[in-house]
Amino acid sequence: MKKSIKETIMGMGSNLDRRDFLKGALAVGAGLALHQAIAKAEEPIGVAKPGNVAGLTAPPVNVVRAGFVGVGGRGTGDMIEFLKCDGVEVNAVCDIVPAKVDCAAGIVEKKQHRKPVGYSSGPEDFKRLCQRDDIDSVFICTPWEWHVPMAVYAMQCGKHAFMEVSAAMNIADCWQLVETAEKTRKHCMMLENCCYGESELMVLNMVRQGVFGDLTHGEAGYIHDLRDLKLSGQGEGAWRTQWSVDHNGNLYPTHGLGPVAQYMNINRGDRFDYLTSMSSPAMGLHQASIKKFGPNHPMSKIDYKCGDMNTTIIKTAKGRTIMVQHDTTSPRPYSRINLISGTLGTFSGYPDRIALSPNSHEWQEVEEYRKKYRHPLIAKAGEKAKGAGHGGMDFIMMYRLVDCLHRGLPLDMDVYDAAAWSCIVECSEKSVANRGNSVDIPDFTRGAWKTTLPLGIVS
Ligand SMILES: NC(=O)c1ccc[n+]([C@@H]2O[C@H](COP(=O)([O-])OP(=O)(O)OC[C@H]3O[C@@H](n4cnc5c(N)ncnc54)[C@H](O)[C@@H]3O)[C@@H](O)[C@H]2O)c1
Repeated sequence: MKKSIKETIMGMGSNLDRRDFLKGALAVGAGLALHQAIAKAEEPIGVAKPGNVAGLTAPPVNVVRAGFVGVGGRGTGDMIEFLKCDGVEVNAVCDIVPAKVDCAAGIVEKKQHRKPVGYSSGPEDFKRLCQRDDIDSVFICTPWEWHVPMAVYAMQCGKHAFMEVSAAMNIADCWQLVETAEKTRKHCMMLENCCYGESELMVLNMVRQGVFGDLTHGEAGYIHDLRDLKLSGQGEGAWRTQWSVDHNGNLYPTHGLGPVAQYMNINRGDRFDYLTSMSSPAMGLHQASIKKFGPNHPMSKIDYKCGDMNTTIIKTAKGRTIMVQHDTTSPRPYSRINLISGTLGTFSGYPDRIALSPNSHEWQEVEEYRKKYRHPLIAKAGEKAKGAGHGGMDFIMMYRLVDCLHRGLPLDMDVYDAAAWSCIVECSEKSVANRGNSVDIPDFTRGAWKTTLPLGIVS
């Protein structure tokens, strides 16, 4: 008959104190984990569809020749960081607002002493930009609903597509990105700058060096009080708010989730399997609207669907869990949570702190780890990143992307990452609508996650 853990430990004889008992229990747990790992390894390895683009490379280039589509707040910022890199050109810019094209063209001219060609003849004019033969990369920084049609068209024109977050807002569009990237064999990368934060890169480095042991759980989020922006009608406020009227789920999952997915080697040894998701009531925007405009204003009559706080829990194929939250309407400080937990310790962001075995009952400051585990990218480009957008990570992302294109290296994030991280929007929405019941997350790699090697970002 199978013995309980206590019987097993006690059967080992001797006067075990509580610590020994726990040590023994952990050893049994580790044995179990090993057994499960071996059992999993014996599962048949899925055969990736021919044409899988994990690890895709493009021939090296001396100059990255870019076009930017959507030069509002973010597009202009991305373009400025891109222009700080060596070996780049911006040859075309596009926006439906001619004044924004003029402004962006002026910024480019100052830097490269030559104006890019401007396109602003309506919402489909990006196509003329994509057709140009003096660009090989299209940066897409438009509202969410435009990312996929623009990226697909750019790839069909033989260009790499780099789109802002989230890459896509539904599962069908995620598949469209994957299938187009596989067919055209062009890079399709989501510009997830948060994977290049100094803390996130340090944690990635620590994870790779085994500091936290075997990873078991992560927590991620996008908690950002955007009430003023969402009621402003300006910039993102002109389009983002409508998503809160029409959808209820995690509308913006990738900023927090991207780094945690990289810690866990998602799509490179593990994958998102299924999720369950719930939303709190939708109250914040309505109440903020009444305060700002008065109860009789049309803005205050809007029926918002998106719950103020959405909490999603993802289960991975290896059994790990990831909590992902989204809240852009509650009064609280900004946070992407950035927590990763393993058998030897835990790191948590906001504020950064660490707890490592055996001194894990209290949080410790991370300063002493910053130097030891500084990521090579920060060591190399950190000085130049000072003053750049979002604490420097916007430049680090562009620097790394441009360097990979110059050297013909695979990119740190591929189309499968863009799809897996972004599809949480629709998967969470489906779960919320069905009392939090679980929803399967598609395997966009079609089994290749089992054989794709982890990122070589730490050299
Ligand atoms: N990574 C980050 O930290 C970060 C920060 C902010 C925004 N974003 C993302 O960047 C994207 C843009 O956000 P934003 O804040 O710049 O919004 P924005 O509204 O300021 O800019 C979007 C621009 O796209 C233009 N546009 C709309 N439709 C177009 C079309 N068919 N053709 C050409 N141009 C078109 C608009 O005129 C506008 O100038 C969004 O996906 C957002 O989620 C990312």
